Amino acid sequence: MTMKNITYATILLMVYAVAATVNVVAELQRFEHLPTKADGSLDILVIGDWGRRGLYNQSYVAFQMGKVGEKIDADFIVSTGDNFYEDGLVNDQDSLFDESFTQVYTVTSLQKQWYSVLGNHDYRGNVSAQLSPTLTHKDSKWLCLRSFIVNSGIVEFFFVDTTPFQDKYFTEEEHTYDWSGILPREEYLSNVLKEVDMALEESNATWKIVIGHHTIFSAGSHGNTQELVDQLLPILEAKDVDLYINGHDHCLQHISSQNSQLQFLTSGGGSKAWRGEVNQWDPKEMKFYYDGQGFMTLRVTDNEISVAFYNVFGEIIHSWRTSKYTHMDS
Ligand SMILES: *[C@@H]1O[C@H](CO)[C@@H](O)[C@H](O)[C@H]1NC(C)=O
Ligand SMILES: *[C@@H]1O[C@H](CO)[C@@H](O)[C@H](O)[C@H]1NC(C)=O
Ligand SMILES: *[C@@H]1O[C@H](CO)[C@@H](O)[C@H](O)[C@H]1NC(C)=O
Repeated sequence: MTMKNITYATILLMVYAVAATVNVVAELQRFEHLPTKADGSLDILVIGDWGRRGLYNQSYVAFQMGKVGEKIDADFIVSTGDNFYEDGLVNDQDSLFDESFTQVYTVTSLQKQWYSVLGNHDYRGNVSAQLSPTLTHKDSKWLCLRSFIVNSGIVEFFFVDTTPFQDKYFTEEEHTYDWSGILPREEYLSNVLKEVDMALEESNATWKIVIGHHTIFSAGSHGNTQELVDQLLPILEAKDVDLYINGHDHCLQHISSQNSQLQFLTSGGGSKAWRGEVNQWDPKEMKFYYDGQGFMTLRVTDNEISVAFYNVFGEIIHSWRTSKYTHMDS
């Protein structure tokens, strides 16, 4: 190779590198899911940590969620991740998809769009299988992406891929994770943060809700995710996010912030729960902790947001609401 050729090749490589970077920093994929109710309100169901072939009460939670979904006429369903235990999906033909999703969430009211993020257990399998359009062809309600936005007019949902933030998955030896599409990690994480920050900045929605698999704050067995406390939380606080909703700890939980309106909600009770581990927490912040199975509903109107947690019997075990204009708790 002549010197000239090498230089040319290097320049070409640099051009490709810049193009690739620009491509990655491009905006998050955006979906529009506007309310259909005449009064403009939006009702959604939130469930996390569920896919176990109906076992560990997954089927009972699904049944109750279906009943509640019918009552509230749910617009769509959010999954906070850990969709398929123990190790995600093997490929897009994996029968677990059918056995743990399609055959479990059978009630009519649940045949709405699902918006799912990936959990750490999903990363133990084949990530591109869960993101594959083939699954949506098999079951049209399925959609799982890494980080994306759902715009519902009065409210905007920002889904964040949180697993790559946690250091321990990159060092632990007992499990392997599918990091294809994530490396180099620092670049991936900084792009996710930039994209979310930018999208929050540009959002015109009255309410901003961020969803990820991992906890920011939690009194459960996994506890806080320090990487998200350090890197994601400052963005959520600076951009006046109203709710952060996660799974990961197998419980239902509501932690209130003392220095902003931000509320931390865990809906991780889709199947196996009852870990019996709860850590001490400031009672001024801990509004609710339930170490059992269940799910969450969220109702959003122009000036009010309300949240309810349901147990496996379909009973409301905690509810909370706030108004945009007065910030009155109840
Ligand atoms: C199912 O739910 C019931 C009622 O909450 C509970 O007593 C039981 O332990 C649960 N079963 C499993 C396997 O988690
Ligand atoms: C992951 O899943 C995709 C989609 O089914 C498949 O094409 C690919 O071969 C799988 N990868 C591995 C390593 O099995
Ligand atoms: C917010 O409103 C402005 C002005 O109408 C518009 O240009 C912008 O695209 C909107 N942002 C989003 C994210 O829709």
